[in-house]
Amino acid sequence: MDAQIAVLGGDGIGPEVTGEAVKVLQAVAQRFGHRLVFRYGLIGWAAVDGEGAALPESTIELCRASAAILLGAVGLPARDGSLPPSERPEVKALLALRRGLYANLRPVLLHPALAARCPLKAEVIAGGIDMLIVRELNGGLYYGQPKGRTGDRAVDSMVYTVAEVERIAVVAFEAARLRRKQVCSVDKANVLATSQLWREVMINVARRYPDVELRHQYVDACAMQIVQNPRQFDVLVTENTFGDILSDEAAVLAGSLGMLPSASLGEGVTPLFEPVHGSAPDIAGQGKADPTATVLSVAMLLDHLGQGDAAAQVEAAVSADLATRAGTRSTSQVGDALAAAVSS
Ligand code: IPM
Ligand code: MN
Repeated sequence: MDAQIAVLGGDGIGPEVTGEAVKVLQAVAQRFGHRLVFRYGLIGWAAVDGEGAALPESTIELCRASAAILLGAVGLPARDGSLPPSERPEVKALLALRRGLYANLRPVLLHPALAARCPLKAEVIAGGIDMLIVRELNGGLYYGQPKGRTGDRAVDSMVYTVAEVERIAVVAFEAARLRRKQVCSVDKANVLATSQLWREVMINVARRYPDVELRHQYVDACAMQIVQNPRQFDVLVTENTFGDILSDEAAVLAGSLGMLPSASLGEGVTPLFEPVHGSAPDIAGQGKADPTATVLSVAMLLDHLGQGDAAAQVEAAVSADLATRAGTRSTSQVGDALAAAVSS
């Protein structure tokens, strides 16, 4: 494989964790004979300071010209006061970068070595947790119009079209085919019109996938089920805001937010890979951040570019590392260990 990768470190621990992930990607590329070119771009507060915009034109161009984007994190809460909410990098840069990337995949896997760090009781997690959250990323409250504030009144619009639900349904069903063939669609169809449309479209698309089982849950019940019986979930598909909330809830089950990778995909747009965790400014620059989630995002990147063997190599290295991990190690120690493991 020949490919250019856009690396956007961003804010806080972002540059540290992407740095280690690039190390691992370079090592695995060497082993599999891939020729990768890494090009670095600014995003977030780093870009506001460097180029006067959270997502500069140069970064947009770089992303367009690349086969994939590896992103660290965006946002520095301490500086939030200096900009109105709609101008902050989380919104300005992230939401702009996500345009066209409508399918956000967030796998939640509890590694046996981390079972003690899962906040749930041993009997609840017996048998493991292995779910894939498919979050719709381009619709709903985040982008719906009208939106904004006039005096004492503010509005966000939850909007979905049949086409938007159809394409995310297809992603969920296709993913389920490669897993345990179960889709749980999460909505609030007892109240919301968008959810009624969502459910109707899910049922229609399911007809094209007779081998996959579809069921529905209301989002409030689902929030409860995730902590009561997480094993029941294989693929969980839901709209943007519900997916945002449920993926954080599910994420803590993996023992640490530092474990979870994500991919954001769409047609004709450069795919984006990033850890689910944020910029963690409190530990930035101290070599304390765990780069595992970003390294696992690299595995998703490789898989998406058709390099399943290389992706499996990275995942195996992470599993072995978690199983044998002892004591605290620095960000670069973890990166070095994983880079060495994928090379051998
Ligand atoms: C996430 C984050 C973002 C979101 C924020 C930072 C805009 O919470 O990726 O889950 O809400 O999508
Ligand atoms: Mn979130």
